[in-house]
Amino acid sequence: MTLSDAVLPAKGPASSTETRKKTVLSGVQPTGSLHLGNYVGALSVWVENQSQYNNLFCVANLHALTIPEAVNAAELRHNSRQVAALFIAAGIDPEESIIFIQSDVPAHPYLAWILGCCTPLGWLERMTQYKTKSAQAETIGSGLLNYPALQAADILLYKADFVPVGEDQTQHIEITRDIAQRFNHLFGECFPLPAPLTRASGARVMGFDDPTVKMSKSIAETRPGHAVSLLDDPDTIRKVIMRAVTDPGNETRFDYAQPGVKNLLVLYEVLSKEPRAAIEEKFAGKGYGFLKRELADLVIETLKPIQERYRQITTEPGYLDRLLAEGAGRASAIAERTLAEVRQLVGV
Ligand code: AMP
Ligand code: TRP
Repeated sequence: MTLSDAVLPAKGPASSTETRKKTVLSGVQPTGSLHLGNYVGALSVWVENQSQYNNLFCVANLHALTIPEAVNAAELRHNSRQVAALFIAAGIDPEESIIFIQSDVPAHPYLAWILGCCTPLGWLERMTQYKTKSAQAETIGSGLLNYPALQAADILLYKADFVPVGEDQTQHIEITRDIAQRFNHLFGECFPLPAPLTRASGARVMGFDDPTVKMSKSIAETRPGHAVSLLDDPDTIRKVIMRAVTDPGNETRFDYAQPGVKNLLVLYEVLSKEPRAAIEEKFAGKGYGFLKRELADLVIETLKPIQERYRQITTEPGYLDRLLAEGAGRASAIAERTLAEVRQLVGV
């Protein structure tokens, strides 16, 4: 499902549909700095739809253990808090939405075990992310293969209707539906089937240094020109975008532009919220230098208030800890209810 098809909020006076808002859940792995791709493909979608749904946003730190050789405990702890702070800085209202750290709610790995038992090996082996990551790993832990069962637990514990994610995650939402259906068939009706919620444009932001690959946290760690991190300073942002790979030419129409230019246009489209026709008119015949300068300004302007809020959040003593403890409590209350239902159905 794309954003334009999403369920619209109830209009007018309080109605029964307003009191029965649908549920959204999404998560991010705290494996490094969040980048513009995470913002455009995921966080900004959460924020735009926030008031329409009951929301839960999870820092998926248990998912970050699936490649244990890459784990540094102090870094993981730091990154988990940084990601949670960035959720809020990006515009998630912690009163309205539940923000929590996955490992603070033990029902997640508990349900993941049960769902893993219901998941045929062949389904897991077909996952693109598993195939890519296992090809790069020296030893493959079973957690890497079971990753989708834990993600399914994240989603199904809250009986989420929608999961707003970038395009790379849609396969994990599809397997979540399959797992839910199999559980329901084996043990009895328990889980509704969730649907992905992706942007029609901007669901797959490409690397600035190589528009043939998806912008990713792991590549960004070794290639400074690959991504813009949400906490980068204006000079760095400008440098990365001005050096973005584009072939020679001056085509700036969305349907005809080469991949590097298309990526810049799509970023401009999402961040400016301007219609395509206006953007094409603005950039027609101006050259790629102008497009890059304008995009860099827009990215800097977009990230400035996020960075300011991030600084406030992380310098106010105790604020984030309080908030995460509260989030864990609110999430646990829902998760424990579902887990009790599941335990009853499976007989444990
Ligand atoms: P991850 O960084 O893999 O934990 O991803 C967190 C969220 O950001 C998920 O919803 C991803 O689908 C989304 N995401 C990650 N990279 C991109 C990208 N390059 N373009 C769009 N969305 C992305
Ligand atoms: N697997 C997702 C990613 O790599 C992160 C994630 C964990 C997630 N649990 C989730 C996304 C639940 C959506 C719903 O991007």
